[in-house]
Amino acid sequence: MILYIGATGHLGKAAVQELCKRGHKVRCLVRGGADTSQLKNLSTEFVYGDACTKESIRKAVAGTDTVMSSFATNIAKDRRTTHLWQNDYEGNLAVIKHAKSAGVKKFVFISYWGLAKFGDFEHGKIKKMVEDLLAVSGLDYTVLRVTSLATDMSLLLGNTLQKKGRAPILMKRHEKIRPILLEDLAWCMADCLTNPKASHKVIEVAGEEEYTFMEFQELFSQALGKKVRFIFIPLPLANFIAGCIDFVTRNQYNARGLVSAFTGGSTCDITQMQQIFRLQQGSFAQHLKDYFTTGHIVFQEPRSLS
Ligand SMILES: NC(=O)c1ccc[n+]([C@@H]2O[C@H](COP(=O)([O-])OP(=O)(O)OC[C@H]3O[C@@H](n4cnc5c(N)ncnc54)[C@H](OP(=O)(O)O)[C@@H]3O)[C@@H](O)[C@H]2O)c1
Repeated sequence: MILYIGATGHLGKAAVQELCKRGHKVRCLVRGGADTSQLKNLSTEFVYGDACTKESIRKAVAGTDTVMSSFATNIAKDRRTTHLWQNDYEGNLAVIKHAKSAGVKKFVFISYWGLAKFGDFEHGKIKKMVEDLLAVSGLDYTVLRVTSLATDMSLLLGNTLQKKGRAPILMKRHEKIRPILLEDLAWCMADCLTNPKASHKVIEVAGEEEYTFMEFQELFSQALGKKVRFIFIPLPLANFIAGCIDFVTRNQYNARGLVSAFTGGSTCDITQMQQIFRLQQGSFAQHLKDYFTTGHIVFQEPRSLS
């Protein structure tokens, strides 16, 4: 039995679907009021509770041999750093502790690729600390460090471009991005359970297609069938504005840290990923085209290379 935490999120839904497709039994720890409609037709169990509440975790983890954690505070909705620490750090810490004492064997954790690079980004610091906890937990773990989810690009950036024809960007024109499709990441997560090469590993994962932000802009224009443009914000200006926000809010949001996370591109070397996961990834360009043609996310069937 697998305990999945974060199942009602964009990635969670795709991951639970992939796990069920492979015949795994999945239990989801979901918060009261969360939208579970897309999970209801999958044969999953639900435990209602919160990953920050010991009683919920204890109930959810009982009888499971695997825990998958992709739960996180949605920073588009709540950027307060104290909340991030309470939810994302303390929640994962409690889950790891309970998993260990309940005899769980395997822990899969979704981390963030930029954390080594952007030292002052709260999300990154928390992810790194959870990674370190897992490394000394005695559990078999796989950490997947994600660059950018394709859905963030289509749903957030894409929708803004569709509505307004332009969107502000903190990356530079020549910097690069490799968004990963949810279905491909979900495939890797499920593969971690049986793939010995993924055992006790921190693996950087990203899409196969890499674009500069100028190419990215062109891709959106093609998918939308109209010319759209990025407004490249100079970093000193972004830092000045963020510094003012931090001053006025007494650093409640660590806006400068957040700016640092959205600069410098979002790409990584995927050689290790390709050696571990024998997966032919789908196309981000196709993902965008499908999204703007149909109005919803269309999954491409991940193809195993073995
Ligand atoms: N977006 C990106 O580009 C990106 C890049 C790198 C890494 N990541 C990582 O990828 C992972 C998945 O992202 P996503 O886009 O799927 O996120 P998402 O759509 O915001 O989903 C977050 C999920 O976490 C759940 N959650 C949050 N706090 C919880 C708690 N205390 N107890 C139980 N459930 C809780 C939410 O439940 P509710 O439905 O109740 O809100 C939701 O199911 C995250 O770990 C994120 O940090 C994302």
